[in-house]
Amino acid sequence: MMFPLLRPALFSIEAERAHGLTIAMLEAWGRAGTPLAAGPGDSRLRINVAGVAFANPIGLAAGVDKDGRAIDGFFGLGLGAVEIGTLTPLPQAGNPRPRLFRLQGDRAVINRMGFNNGGLEAALPRAAAAKRRGVLGINVGANKDATDRIADYRDGVEKAAQIADYVTINISSPNTPGLRDLQHGAALTELLAAADEARRMPIQRPPLFLKVAPDLEPSAIDEIARAAIDHHIDGLIVSNTTISRPGLTSAHAAEAGGLSGAPLAVLARQRLVDFRKATGTALPLISVGGIGSAEEAYARIRAGASLVQLYTALVYEGPGLPRRIARGLSRLLKQDGYDHVADAVGAG
Ligand code: FNR
Repeated sequence: MMFPLLRPALFSIEAERAHGLTIAMLEAWGRAGTPLAAGPGDSRLRINVAGVAFANPIGLAAGVDKDGRAIDGFFGLGLGAVEIGTLTPLPQAGNPRPRLFRLQGDRAVINRMGFNNGGLEAALPRAAAAKRRGVLGINVGANKDATDRIADYRDGVEKAAQIADYVTINISSPNTPGLRDLQHGAALTELLAAADEARRMPIQRPPLFLKVAPDLEPSAIDEIARAAIDHHIDGLIVSNTTISRPGLTSAHAAEAGGLSGAPLAVLARQRLVDFRKATGTALPLISVGGIGSAEEAYARIRAGASLVQLYTALVYEGPGLPRRIARGLSRLLKQDGYDHVADAVGAG
């Protein structure tokens, strides 16, 4: 209710500072015990994916709460899942500022943050201490200066798996030079084998998701799908930000980095369809990129997504968005005669 009043103030502040303030507010709100009770939830929206029970299919995408400071605050917004990270083994400052740009006219963001984070060791105790009123995902990556990037992923998966309900391997950030090379060939299979081995180390063995870029050739899509299935990956998150610049009008359109938000929707939807085709029903898919309404979330589900995630639309639509999408999605499912969201997955 307050967001329309707060928005002009937040938008008048430099983007990264506004983001920091938002996280601080949600952190304080979460610590105070969020006043909005989670409630019993809507049974139509409950879904099991890769053996994990989600109260609803709407999750927070990685990169919003990289260091896991506001986990309880975000669950208070009615999200079924919160994915923290990307976390790297060592703390990392990221790229020089400014590195985050709002493209208001395009309802988009360009970022070249470069995995700024306080490191795994600092974030994991915070994640372990959170009340966690939903599914907690931990997204891991490699340090920019790592001599052995695959070893960083092995380390990250092993540590995150002790706490997380699922672990995401992020090899699709455009802002760590060379990282996306891990999406191909021997590097990909070596990485997935190492990650699969690492998540077997802790007693609990959470599912492992792989997050991919939208900027992929058809042959790369088939290659990733095959390697993921061969190495027991439990789901694909499609997709990260794009390095393409589809029809932008805003002043910051030429900034370097990854584009997210409304202009990414067409590409992210197409990649979802491509991966559905490439994997059949062998792997659950999580759709992310330009989702900002119940209609769009429902379209992704009908196109084959078991879950969806949000980032940029939260910037423009505010903290009421997850609940609005949940209510709208439930209404759309009911309208089409679905008692359970799982029945609509891939139906379109
Ligand atoms: C991101 N994203 C991201 N993804 C990831 O796996 N690890 C990360 O650290 C980040 N960091 C990050 C920072 C910023 C500022 C943005 C805008 C995005 C990508 C994000 O999770 C998501 O995949 C894309 O933003 C596309 O979704 P939206 O924003 O269009 O809903």
